[in-house]
Amino acid sequence: MARQGYVSLLSGGGTAYAADTADMISSRTRVLEASAYAPLIEAVASAAAGDVVVDVGAGTGHYLAAAVTAVDGRGVGLDLSKFAARSIARCHPAVGAVVADAWQDLPIAGGVADTVLSVFAPRNTAEFARVLRPGGRVVVLGPGPDHLAEMVDGLGMIGQDKDKAARLEAQFADGFELIDHRDIRAVTAVDRDLAVDVVMMGPAAFHSRRAEIAARAQELDEPLSITVDTTLRIYRLAC
Ligand SMILES: C[S@@+](CC[C@H](N)C(=O)[O-])C[C@H]1O[C@@H](n2cnc3c(N)ncnc32)[C@H](O)[C@@H]1O
Repeated sequence: MARQGYVSLLSGGGTAYAADTADMISSRTRVLEASAYAPLIEAVASAAAGDVVVDVGAGTGHYLAAAVTAVDGRGVGLDLSKFAARSIARCHPAVGAVVADAWQDLPIAGGVADTVLSVFAPRNTAEFARVLRPGGRVVVLGPGPDHLAEMVDGLGMIGQDKDKAARLEAQFADGFELIDHRDIRAVTAVDRDLAVDVVMMGPAAFHSRRAEIAARAQELDEPLSITVDTTLRIYRLAC
């Protein structure tokens, strides 16, 4: 158990995947604590059901904390990043934080979770099915085609892959039934610093420096508009 309150269960060989850095988690925290993503957090929380919520790729823990509060239950947040795990450990008193690789066997017993959250995160659907109780659900939130489009045009962020929705549906085709599906879209005004955080909380941070993105942001007029374009899907484990 790390003194910051999480458990690391990464197997000895480590992992081939890139974990979020401390700076990415700080940027993500600022974005999730501003109003732009509030409708997403609310939608995910209200889609959770039952008592035990597992968030795979939980990041800062904001979505998990809201879901656990909504169901008045308990939760576990898994993430590859120890910086994420530190934040998850503090997000809610009834949440445990674990560093683990979502592409390996999850360190969770079979048939114990009522809800699995997968929010902009890796989807190991075979493991989701194993850890869910019969009739349990996966709440998936992912980007739509226009997600953060202004950041793609104005700040050089990588655009959304147009085949993402079809790939997602194929991943859940076996063993799950889609029970709800809706788009959540909002346009919000943000200042330059938050726009830079929106870019630097994601994979762009692996190949761009904050100063470069901030310099580009200086050329744009404030306030900047950002479109949050996402789809929420709820899949029930088929019996
Ligand atoms: C785009 S962030 C989303 C975080 C959070 N769900 C949210 O939306 O705020 C993706 C998260 O998945 C984590 N991640 C990436 N690869 C992973 C893996 N193989 N196993 C577990 N977590 C992973 C990253 O460290 C990061 O925190």
